[in-house]
This record gives sequence, structure tokens and C-alpha cells, in this order.
Amino acid sequence: MNKLIAWFDERIPLTKTWNIHLAQYPAPKNLNFWYLFGVLATLVLVNQIVTGIWLTMNYVPSAEGAFASVEYIMRDIEGGWILRYMHSTGASAFFVVVYLHMFRGMLYGSYQKPRELLWVFGMLIFLVLMAEAFMGYLLPWGQMSYWGAQVIISLFGAIPYIGDDLTLWIRGDYVISGATLNRFFALHVIALPLVLVILVFLHIIALHEVGSNNPEGIPTKKPKGSVPEEEKPKFKFHERFTKKYDIVDSVPFFPYFIVKDLVGIGIFLFLFCYVIFFAPAMGGLFLEPPNFEPANALKTPEHIAPVWYFTPFYAILRAVPDKLMGVILMFGAIAFLFALPWIDRGKVRSIRYRSTFHKINLTVFAISFIVLGYLGLKPATEVYTFFARVFTFLYFAFFVFLWFYSKNENTKPVPERITK
Ligand code: HEM
Repeated sequence: MNKLIAWFDERIPLTKTWNIHLAQYPAPKNLNFWYLFGVLATLVLVNQIVTGIWLTMNYVPSAEGAFASVEYIMRDIEGGWILRYMHSTGASAFFVVVYLHMFRGMLYGSYQKPRELLWVFGMLIFLVLMAEAFMGYLLPWGQMSYWGAQVIISLFGAIPYIGDDLTLWIRGDYVISGATLNRFFALHVIALPLVLVILVFLHIIALHEVGSNNPEGIPTKKPKGSVPEEEKPKFKFHERFTKKYDIVDSVPFFPYFIVKDLVGIGIFLFLFCYVIFFAPAMGGLFLEPPNFEPANALKTPEHIAPVWYFTPFYAILRAVPDKLMGVILMFGAIAFLFALPWIDRGKVRSIRYRSTFHKINLTVFAISFIVLGYLGLKPATEVYTFFARVFTFLYFAFFVFLWFYSKNENTKPVPERITK
């Protein structure tokens, strides 16, 4: 075995990569439950790619064949039903995990310097993930696939001057048709997964360049020579990390955090399997009832709502009477998240040491996001629209308030070292 590894080491940096990224990679010792979601997102990404490949083997990407081919996968292909439910549940699980992963970043200020680029890569992943999910949803060619795509693509029509041409270009037809299905299939199966994998790779490279933040939000890399020998961890970290810095309060990622993550992965898989076996439609949240009916261009469903993970943004869109303004605000909601590292001008990262006002602000933001998600599922009645406006205001207020108070915030003293 050693000889085989040595043979590879002379040709590619096998052991070196293992050491730098796993066995001699210093991870802060206090990484908690919130740090599980990056690993889970990676796991779900692999699940989506693998089950996606097998679904593609029997799926027919045409307006005539798509719906029937999904039924065929569900009823006649051996194990087809579980592949499809793993994929459809995986899509929702992806967003659950990614939303929690992003919120962790907000809790502990992980987007602040020097992790701005890491955050931007994350946001790009989020954008591509949304495009990927949207295009995937058209593929079963059910009623909600068709009419959901109709609503979302028509939004581009609100853009002045180029709107009509743009929607035509996206659809490849005057209406949503087989041409649209074909291009969405190509993008969903090849182009976007490729972009996603590349972005995730860059995300991890950026993370390993600067190192993980942690719940205390304090650096575990100290200036070289500033830490007494007896206070340094008794582990061997790669010289890549120890050459420039003294590493403190850290443990090697392998085996310590791999083992910790395995526990979390086990619990996640229990929940994931529970949904697949007992509630794959999740009461209409993961698979919407109208989508069990084939697409029909002559029959608009009574109530069109996107899948739950889009509804916070959909609620913002509908909260505004003017279509163009709605579109601008909806994209603005994502743009503000992109700009978070520059909106937050605070010096303290972790919520543990930030002001009470910040704690309240972030809590109100999280509640607004959840309530908007709920409102986006409901019909746009007068009462619901009123609340959608209130919570849209609160969503944006988070960023505006943050920009103002973060500069001179009343923070608590931050400890030098990780003690809890
Ligand atoms: C496919 C989606 C994603 C995957 C596979 C992924 C993967 C990971 C992994 C494995 C880590 C290290 C473990 C951890 O800290 O949880 C990480 C860290 C991080 N990710 Fe992601 N990520 C994804 C999406 C995102 C998104 C959408 C954002 C935010 C916009 C984001 C922001 C961050 C940040 C800020 C960190 C560093 C956290 C810290 O050190 O405190 N990631 N990511």
C-alpha cells in the first residue's frame, strides 16, 4: 500500500492534498452544530448528481414524452420511484441545508474580512442553485411545472425595451413549449451542475486559504512567535499553516471533525429517509398537487405558487403593485445578501459579542424571511398582501439598519482565545 501511495505521490500531490485539506488541516476546536451544514450541502450535491444521472437514463425530454416518462420511472422502472423521491426530496433538502448554512454565516459574521470572497462564491452558488431548481421543476411537465415557468419567465417581460425579446429568447418559442423543455433539460443536466461543482470547488479553496471562522468569531491564526510553546496544540499541522502563523485552539479536521460530522450525517439521513418513505410530497410542499396532472396550456390552475424555497422572494415580488418594481425588489433582496460583507461595517464577528440591537435586528430578519415564505404560498388576498408589505419592509430594513449601526456598535469585549 505504501509503495502504491509513493508511486502516486511522485506523480500527483496525493498525500500532500490529503494532509493540507484533511489530516493536517487546523479546524477551530469549537465548531458547533451550525458547521454541519456545509458538509450536508456537499452530501446533497452528490446525491442530486448521482440520482440525476440515473433519472436521465429513462426520462424523455420532450413535451409529448416527459410526463409519461416520469410516470414510467415511478411505476415500471425497478427502483425508479426511490431515485425520483431521492432527487425531489434532495432538492428541498438542499435549500433547507443551504439556508441554515447561510444563516450560520450571518450569526457568526463569517462573511466579514477576510472571508468576503468565500461569501460571494457562496452567493453565486445560491443563484445557480435557484436556476438549477427552477429549470428542474419544468422537466416533469406537470401543471405547476408549466404555469410556474410561465409566471417566472414572464417576469423578464417587465424589463423595459428588451423584455419581450428576452422572454422570447429564454423560451425559444412564443409560448412555453417543447423547445423550452429541451433547453431547460440541457442546462439542468449538464451546464448548471458543472458550474455548481466548479463553484463549490472554488468555495472550498477560498475557505481553506483563509481558514474557518468559528462561533466565537475570533482568529485561530496568531502572529508568528506570539504564542508560547506550551499553549500551542499538540497536533501536527501542515507547514503551509504554521510557516506564517502560530495556530491555536485547533484540531486536525481528520479524524476529529470527520467523526463529528458522521454523527450529523447519520441524523440527517434518518430525516431524509423518513421523508422519502413516508412523506415524499410533504403535504404538497415538496411536490405540489397540480404537478400530478400533465401540463395543459388551456387550463390555468386556480392558484399558482412556486415551491416553498422560492416563496420568500415570490412574496416580495407580489408585495409590490408595479411588476417592474416587484422584479427589482425581488432581485434586490438577493443583491443585498451579496453585498453583506460591505454593508456590515462592524469589527466584531460573532453574534455572541454584538449589540442587543444587532441580535434583535437579525432575529427580526430571520422571522421576516420565514413569514414571507409562508405568505408566498398563500393567495395574494388583501390581508396577505398587507403583511407581505410589512415583512418585505422589515427584510430590507435589516440591511439598512445594519449599515448605520455597525460602524459604531456597542459591542462586548471579545476574548483573545477560544475558551468555550
Ligand atoms: C452547494 C452549496 C454549498 C456547499 C456544498 C458549501 C460547502 C461548504 C463547506 C463544506 C464549508 C465548510 C464547513 C462549514 O463551515 O459548514 C463551507 C463554509 C462556508 N460557506 Fe458554504 N457551501 C455551499 C453554499 C454556501 C452559500 C450559499 C453560502 C452563502 C452565501 C456559503 C457561505 C459559506 C461561508 C461564509 C463559510 C465559512 C463559514 C465559517 O467559517 O464560519 N456557502 N461551505
